[in-house]
Amino acid sequence: MENLEAKILQADSLEALEKVRIELFGKKGVLAAQFAKMKDIPGPEKKAFAEGLNKQKAALQALFDKRYEELKAEEIERLLKAEAIDVSLYGTLAQKGALHPVMETMDKIIDYFTALNFSVETSGMVEDDFHNFEALNLPKYHPARDMQDTFYFKDGGLLRTHTSPVQIRTMFKEKPPIRMIAPGAVFRRDYDVTHTPMFHQVEGLVVDEKGKVSFANLKAILTDFLQYMFGDVDVRFRPSFFPFTEPSAEVDISCIFCGGEGCRVCSHTGWIEILGCGIVDPNVFKAVDYEDVSGYAFGLGVERIAMLMHKIPDLRSLFEGDIRLLEQFR
Ligand code: PHE
Repeated sequence: MENLEAKILQADSLEALEKVRIELFGKKGVLAAQFAKMKDIPGPEKKAFAEGLNKQKAALQALFDKRYEELKAEEIERLLKAEAIDVSLYGTLAQKGALHPVMETMDKIIDYFTALNFSVETSGMVEDDFHNFEALNLPKYHPARDMQDTFYFKDGGLLRTHTSPVQIRTMFKEKPPIRMIAPGAVFRRDYDVTHTPMFHQVEGLVVDEKGKVSFANLKAILTDFLQYMFGDVDVRFRPSFFPFTEPSAEVDISCIFCGGEGCRVCSHTGWIEILGCGIVDPNVFKAVDYEDVSGYAFGLGVERIAMLMHKIPDLRSLFEGDIRLLEQFR
């Protein structure tokens, strides 16, 4: 019987122990064979034999049960180790996208004007000479055309150099009063730290009955807009020239880098130029057959504002698609 105990103790897995169980306790097992001998035992010895056998069986069963519990515990331990999940490990996070800083700035500008009931107008980036220049009081060979280095197509079409043609297209389409902005891409032959051949503008145009729209209105709305964009800045209007507005102004804000003290960014003037604007020139209204109206218009560069808001030193980096730059704007 000793070697039966050894068999139980030496079983090193539940499968091995199961084999031992069949060998010992099974119908054709060692114990069954012992009990089968009962019939050959003479009467008076039967009882003692049976008792002895039952004791042995109980002892083996107890040993078996103990070994079973041990192996079961080992098995559970092994499974726990193998299937363990380290809840403190970092998972792989899904990459999260973000708006490009130019689009984010554009959205902020659009939000401001739509809240004031401006409509948002768009038209194509491929324009013709009439809508991009002529209707905007820029006749052929007018020297002011040099202000905007234009990409031309062979058939005479061109890539719009500003969003001002959307003014013309909207006035042809609608009757006054008009309150619109036109966000979109524009193109000029320019490339340096503050210029890229493609950039974005937001145009603004307000037209109403003669006398209803004044330079004071223009000044008020643009001052409020620039303080919405840049916070507590000073705003100044400087006389300027655009063929499609008269009078015209360029608008500066006090330098957000030095607070007006003078620094490299503002070329030590304390001011940063932000946009162009003015009262719509009568020749523009003539081109679209509008009579007895007055209006103001403005146009601003979105990249320039994004650059200032995010302190980006080279405008070209906005369009290189370098994920390391873009990741900073998540
Ligand atoms: N179209 C002008 C530009 O691109 C900006 C502007 C728009 C100025 C409207 C005055 C009025 O420079």
